Amino acid sequence: MFKNLFITKPVEPAGHVDAGEPFEGSLEGEATLKRTLTGTQLMMLGVGAVIGAGIFVLTGQAAAEHAGPAIMLSFILAGIACAFAGLCYAEFSAMMPVSGSAYSYSYATLGEFVAWFIGWCLVLEYLFAASTVAVGWSGYLNSFLGTLGMPIPDLFATAPLTFSEGEFTRTGAILNLPAVFIVALVTGIGYVGITQSAMANAIVVAIKITVILLFIGFGIAYIDPANWVPFIPENEGPGRFGMDGVMRAAAIVFFAYIGFDAVSTAAGEAKNPQRDMPIGILGSLVICTIIYIAMCAVLTGMLPYSQLGTPKPVATALEAYPSLLWLKTLVEIAAIAGLSSVILVMLMAQPRIFYSMSRDGLLPKLFGKVHPKYHTPYIGTIIVGVIAATLAGFLPIGLLGEMVSMGTLLAFATVCAGVLILRYTKPGLHRPFRVPLAIIVCPLGVLSCLYLFAQPFMEYWFLFLGWTAIGMLIYFGYGYRHSKLRQRR
Ligand code: ALA
Repeated sequence: MFKNLFITKPVEPAGHVDAGEPFEGSLEGEATLKRTLTGTQLMMLGVGAVIGAGIFVLTGQAAAEHAGPAIMLSFILAGIACAFAGLCYAEFSAMMPVSGSAYSYSYATLGEFVAWFIGWCLVLEYLFAASTVAVGWSGYLNSFLGTLGMPIPDLFATAPLTFSEGEFTRTGAILNLPAVFIVALVTGIGYVGITQSAMANAIVVAIKITVILLFIGFGIAYIDPANWVPFIPENEGPGRFGMDGVMRAAAIVFFAYIGFDAVSTAAGEAKNPQRDMPIGILGSLVICTIIYIAMCAVLTGMLPYSQLGTPKPVATALEAYPSLLWLKTLVEIAAIAGLSSVILVMLMAQPRIFYSMSRDGLLPKLFGKVHPKYHTPYIGTIIVGVIAATLAGFLPIGLLGEMVSMGTLLAFATVCAGVLILRYTKPGLHRPFRVPLAIIVCPLGVLSCLYLFAQPFMEYWFLFLGWTAIGMLIYFGYGYRHSKLRQRR
C-alpha cells in the first residue's frame, strides 16, 4: 500500500505542438481543450491574476503596521521567493504543457499521494483566492457606490460570519451579495470559453495598468523624500517594524504575487507552450514586481506610512492632494476592474486542475467533461463557481486570504523540490527551459516558501489540518480506488 501511494506518473515530454492541435487529449471520444493562447495573452493572464487585492488592499496595512517605507523591501523579498518558484514553474510547464500545474508536476516526481495533496492545496490557492478577491471587490464596489451616494446596506454587503481566535461568530449580516454576484458573472465568462476569457482579461488588464501608470506618473511629483526616513522604523515588538516587521510584511504581501503560476494551468491551451510558458510566467512576474515596487515607493513617498493603514491605501494617498482627486475615482474603477480579472483567472485555473485530476481518475469523470461547443471544462467550471460564490458570500476576507497563502506556499515549495528531483531521476528529458543553477535555486525556493509558510498563521493551522483531512477522505474514498495509473499497472 505504501509503495502504491507514491506511484509516479511517467513524464510525457511535449513534442512540438502546433496551434489548434490538442496535446493533452480528453476523456476518450470527447472534445478537447483548444490551443489558442499566445505568449502575450499568457503574460496578460499572469498580470491579470496577480495585480489585485494584494496591492490595492493589503499594502497599506502592511506598511502602516509592519514595515514602514521598507514595504518596498518586503515586496522585493516576497518577489525573490516567487522568482525561485516562477523559474521552477517555467521549467515544468514548458516540459509538461498540461492543465494540471503543480498537481501534474508532483504526480510525475513525488508520487500520487503528494500529487493529490498538492492538488488539494491548489484548491485553496485558486478557488479560495477567487472568493477572497471577490470579497475585496465587494468592498471597493460599495465604497465607490458610497461616493455616488447609493451604498448597498452592510446587511447585504458584508460576511455573515467572522473568524477570530479559532471561533466563528455571526455578524448579523445576511449575505455578501456583491461578492456572490461577481463570482457568478465571472463563472459565466469562464463557461463560454478560454479565448473570450483571455480577451475580457486583456481589456481589464489594459485599464488596470494604465491607471497604475497614471498613479505612478502623477504621484512622483508629490513625493516628499522626508517620508522615507527612517526607511526601516525601529522595532516595536514582534512583527512590528525593524527587520522582523519587514519579514512579516513580506509574508502578507506574498498574497499580492499569487497568480503568476495560474498561467501554467493554461499550458494545455497555449499555441506554443515550449516557448511561451516561460515568457508568460516569468514575464508577468517581472512586470508585476517592477509595478509593485514603484507603487510602494510613490505611496510611501506621498504620505507618511502611518497614515496608509486603510483598506484602500492608493485612494487614501490621493485623497491627501486635492489636485489629484480626479485620479482617485479612476483608481477605484481600476481596482474594481482589476480585482475582477484576478477572479477570472483564478476561476479559470481551478476547473483545469480538476480536469487533470479527473483524467487521472482521482476525481469523478464529470470534472473532465469538455463542452462540445465552447471547449471548456464546463461542469467543473459551474461546480467551482457555485462553491466559490458560497464561500465569498459567507466568509470574511482575512480567513480566506490566510488559507490561500498557506495552500499556495506549499504548492510552490513542492514545485521547487520537484524540479530538482526530476533533474536527478530523469536527467535525459527534453527541457525547453532550464532553471539556471538549479542546485542552488530550487533549495532556496523550497526554504523561502516554507519560511513564509511558517509565519504566524497559527490560528489557521487547525482549519488547514481540517481541510487536509477532508482531502484525505476523498482520496482514500474515491481517488485511490479509481486511479487510472494504478489500474493500468
Ligand atoms: N495576487 C492576487 C491579488 O493580489 C491574488 O489579488
